[in-house]
Amino acid sequence: MGLCFCSLCPSSIPPSSSSFNKPLSSGSTSTVGFSATTSSAGRSQFSEITSGSIEDTTEGSLSFHSPNGEILERPNLKVFSFVDLKSATRNFRPDTLLGEGGFGRVYKGWLDEKNLTPAKPGSGIMVAIKKLNSESTQGFQEWQSEVNFLGRLSHPNLVKLLGYCWDDEELLLVYEFMAKGSLENHLFRRNPNIEPLSWNTRIKIAIGAARGLAFLHDSEKQVIYRDFKASNILLDGSFNAKISDFGLAKLGPSGEQSHVTTRVMGTYGYAAPEYIATGHLYVKSDVYGFGVVLLEMLSGMRALDRTRPPGQQNLVEWGKPLLSNKKKLKNIMDGKIEGQYSQKAAIQAAQLSLKCLENDPKQRPSMKDVLESLEIIEAIQVKSKNHISRHQPPIHHGIARHRVVKV
Ligand SMILES: Nc1ncnc2c1ncn2[C@@H]1O[C@H](COP(=O)(O)OP(=O)(O)OP(=O)(O)O)[C@@H](O)[C@H]1O
Ligand SMILES: [Mg+2]
Repeated sequence: MGLCFCSLCPSSIPPSSSSFNKPLSSGSTSTVGFSATTSSAGRSQFSEITSGSIEDTTEGSLSFHSPNGEILERPNLKVFSFVDLKSATRNFRPDTLLGEGGFGRVYKGWLDEKNLTPAKPGSGIMVAIKKLNSESTQGFQEWQSEVNFLGRLSHPNLVKLLGYCWDDEELLLVYEFMAKGSLENHLFRRNPNIEPLSWNTRIKIAIGAARGLAFLHDSEKQVIYRDFKASNILLDGSFNAKISDFGLAKLGPSGEQSHVTTRVMGTYGYAAPEYIATGHLYVKSDVYGFGVVLLEMLSGMRALDRTRPPGQQNLVEWGKPLLSNKKKLKNIMDGKIEGQYSQKAAIQAAQLSLKCLENDPKQRPSMKDVLESLEIIEAIQVKSKNHISRHQPPIHHGIARHRVVKV
């Protein structure tokens, strides 16, 4: 997960009990502190949570409808008891573990389809249950932000949050189950049981993720996602992409403002340069993150990998000159998809990634434009003689994901 709607007024939300007031300690991913969270937007938050329930303190209507998605006025979520979630996961049995991130572990559970009560394994619906680790560096604010954002946002390309649990010191989130896990697992994990993603599937995933971001950016109350990365793009059984983890999301700027000013948080390798340098967060900062993920999909390489040779560790720095050179492009394309795409499609995808990676946020395209370009790329048919070919360079799989907070 990554912080918060309510980061607009985090201090006004005291947890009812618990250790959540204590300073956050370091956990599995490195989070470095950076003070003062402010917003030039100065608008009221969607809602705040008090005493284990969600209370809407929003002034005026924030509801929004678009053809495929909507923002609800209030989170529409089930409140689970800890006992229910314990039972749904058979006491968080290790064999139900799906993965682990900075927030904590994610378990597979079973719930009755109608009333979402615990069900026997194999019956009802499968769900993913994320449990806050007491050592988490992320914690309460992110949990709260997830409930406030994802509980209200509804779109086919955003993961559905079904409910939450706040029982004593236990904080959990219950999501729809995404059968194929994260894009990160498919692109980078060495697992002989996982087929490499094809070119067509990569473009399909890019289109789904772009639709999700475009929905956030185009809504009446713009939402800046702030933590776009391969591990936060989840895939259903048909490889439809859905964006997850709204822990770092923020409302966009209001009125004449071009940006919000905030504590720098995100993930090294994906965060936009202007944001890291100044704390100024633009809607277009998300577009930069999208450009990084698109480059990861084209190259099959991680945004940051300390095990690659010097000069190649930062994918964007290394890749930019190659992306802009039609002849050198083949040197960065993933050998696992060789022969599956036309040169024209690869060049257009590379150029799109480059535009997203512009240093000046104003020069980056909107996510709506990105989506249109991807749909054009998807329609380009493969002509066999046009394939790009190349020798596959060694691909290093060292994991080097670090959460940023200004250094
Ligand atoms: N809804 C879900 N359905 C299926 N698997 C999921 C779901 N949510 C998370 N997972 C699995 O759990 C793993 C950990 O997810 P999590 O969001 O906690 O961490 P992360 O995204 O890897 O890191 P970060 O804390 O930086 O976001 C994911 O990689 C994925 O494999
Ligand atoms: Mg995540």
